[in-house]
Amino acid sequence: IRRTKIVELLKSTEFGKQANVKGWVRTKRGNKQVNFIALNDGSCIHNIQIVVDVPNFDEALLKRITTGAAVSINGEITESTGSGQKVEIMAKEIEVMGDCDPEKYPIQPKKHTLEFLRENAHLRYRTNTFGAIARIRHAMIFAVHEFYTKKGFVNIHTPIITASDAEGAGEMFKVTTLDYDNMPRTEEGAIDYSQDFFGKATNLTVSGQLEGELAALAMGEIYTFGPTFRAENSNTSRHLAEFWMIEPEMAFYDLDDNMDLAEEFLKYLIKYALDNCMDDLEFLSKRLQEEEKNKKADERSMELIEKLQFVLANDFIRLPYTEAIEVLKNSKPNKKGKFKYPIDGFGSDLQSEHERYLVEKHFKKPVILTDYPKDIKAFYMKQNDDGKTVRAMDVLFPQIGEIIGGSQREEDYDKLVYRMEEMDIPAEEMWWYLDTRRFGSVVHSGFGLGFERLMLFVTGMGNIRDVIPFPRTPKTAEF
Ligand code: 4AD
Ligand code: MG
Repeated sequence: IRRTKIVELLKSTEFGKQANVKGWVRTKRGNKQVNFIALNDGSCIHNIQIVVDVPNFDEALLKRITTGAAVSINGEITESTGSGQKVEIMAKEIEVMGDCDPEKYPIQPKKHTLEFLRENAHLRYRTNTFGAIARIRHAMIFAVHEFYTKKGFVNIHTPIITASDAEGAGEMFKVTTLDYDNMPRTEEGAIDYSQDFFGKATNLTVSGQLEGELAALAMGEIYTFGPTFRAENSNTSRHLAEFWMIEPEMAFYDLDDNMDLAEEFLKYLIKYALDNCMDDLEFLSKRLQEEEKNKKADERSMELIEKLQFVLANDFIRLPYTEAIEVLKNSKPNKKGKFKYPIDGFGSDLQSEHERYLVEKHFKKPVILTDYPKDIKAFYMKQNDDGKTVRAMDVLFPQIGEIIGGSQREEDYDKLVYRMEEMDIPAEEMWWYLDTRRFGSVVHSGFGLGFERLMLFVTGMGNIRDVIPFPRTPKTAEF
């Protein structure tokens, strides 16, 4: 008999029919007459219950059915009354495909802490929580491509090894074929990259935007979806050294068009999760409520599914940075009435506590802040006539803070070169980028969605290390 996945079996009404199911044992319980095996195969959050008539089977075989063991079972699809599911399997033949020593297996049939599972990251998919997250992550990847495909955007693969620092923030991982212990030096003692494979300093990309702009100014509307790398040594629950970013870039879009697209995009992804991942979301919601039981009522976050529906139902607030600074200056965020990082006025960069205050306490809706001071933003953003601000936009979400960063781009060649000089960005190395402004330059805009920040929001998880399969942070890069 061919294998049927558990997600399909649980929908079956073909009672009496024979089926084969394969998976990993979650638990086994019972008595001398009958055993119940909870089996999971990763196809859904639910286990299927296998009913084993003990006298019909070899005792030694049944002993090998322990938590974590892989088994293949032939049996009859039966209607269930007591297992929480409508369908169970009456076992006829059992094969243990892979034994699992319960003394040594780290994953026990109990609730493990997320810290413990992070230390056992190689096995954490075998828990309900990480199975649910993996399935939702896949659904979100699919929804990203579906959204842009329906809109006629072209997906562009931008390079991972590059010579450009797109954000100008210097948070790059160097890429070199030189011998690290024996770097060739110039006469002045600097590393001589002319002897490198690429003949110059290269790094892992911090953003595909600049290459994306090249494509947008030919194809009209494009998007990238790739890995990005930031060598910032920040051990926060919102930062990774390796994360995935979706960067749409559109010719003929101004900042308003850009904001419209960002809002529509986020809502599309959230609706997709609600429409397609409800079983997993319900599981994660219960998990979160369990975790929050011990918190004070006013510190508890909104129930997960309600929170997702809430974002769909509301227009995002759109507000210039200077107005947000006024709100923050006049606010009392807590009993002491102070933020950890004080707001000095125009020019202050916003910390996530400020962003979250605006979203969670003041407006109580997602917020898009625009027109930031040019000195805290990247060189490529379009300059406003006030000489002080740029056409930037950050989308701020509850629980997350900044989920999207983007802008209208400076399309004017002279203004862009002038700004690059001001910021010490070598224009001669960026000739390929500047060519877009020399040959048929147009108004254009784009943004970057941090995929793991989206995943944090959709799953309700609190730590970004838990929403990417293999987190790379200063402390976690074991394999
Ligand atoms: O604001 P950022 O740095 O913007 C850019 O990279 C632009 N080139 C995007 C564009 O306009 N095409 O990053 C964009 C988003 C942030 O809003 C955040 O969601 C995410 O990427 N992000 C990170 N996510 C996880 N770990 C990090 N270290 C991140 N840094 C940024
Ligand atoms: Mg940003």
